[in-house]
Amino acid sequence: MDQAWFDQWANEYDADVVESDKAGSFPFAGYLRLMNEVFEIVNATPRSKVLDLGFGTGVLTQKFYEAGHVVTGVDFSEKMCAIAGERMPGARLICADFAEGLPASLHGETFDAIVSTYAFHHIPKHKKTERMRDLLRYLTPGGVLVIGDISFASQTDHEFCEQKFSDDWDEEESYIVFDELLPEIVDLEPSFKTLSVCAGLLTIQAEKTIYRQ
Ligand SMILES: C[S@@+](CC[C@H](N)C(=O)[O-])C[C@H]1O[C@@H](n2cnc3c(N)ncnc32)[C@H](O)[C@@H]1O
Repeated sequence: MDQAWFDQWANEYDADVVESDKAGSFPFAGYLRLMNEVFEIVNATPRSKVLDLGFGTGVLTQKFYEAGHVVTGVDFSEKMCAIAGERMPGARLICADFAEGLPASLHGETFDAIVSTYAFHHIPKHKKTERMRDLLRYLTPGGVLVIGDISFASQTDHEFCEQKFSDDWDEEESYIVFDELLPEIVDLEPSFKTLSVCAGLLTIQAEKTIYRQ
């Protein structure tokens, strides 16, 4: 899915996610719960400096913004950026692709929290670990990386969901299966929480005293 596809979806996005969540259907069953969980993690630290990757229309980003956190976001859809920009005139919203790394304007910066909701599945499977490790370099000591997405604790859960929602399943997307990913990132001490039949939350906390290289 490219920028143009998300540009076309932007106006209907908010209504679509609410409908899918309410129906308990794929891909957004658990959406509001996931948003609330990510918000609570970030909001535990007042006036956090937050980076939101793939912020979309800003459903979650706006909650951070209104709670007094200092918000930066990256999203490659100009239409999504325009909608979010109207909702958060004081936020730093960067219209750019994060698949190969963060934009140059963010190099050398650090954040108390880096979050990404329903966007990380656009990163190909073989690049996810590299991207996560790269993002950790942008966290302050003790900061947190939170990836809320269509994701699964195990391959069994993945297969169950794929069969249950076979009509809507998207083969092109790459969903995290935590127990398969774990060997690659075990040193980062990640945690994973299942929130619905298709939603999960991966959390990694940066070390408190030293930056990872
Ligand atoms: C499904 S929406 C999620 C929006 C929002 N985070 C939410 O949870 O409602 C995915 C968003 O990620 C953005 N996105 C997907 N891949 C991206 C990439 N490689 N670089 C930047 N933005 C990307 C899309 O433009 C879209 O706004």
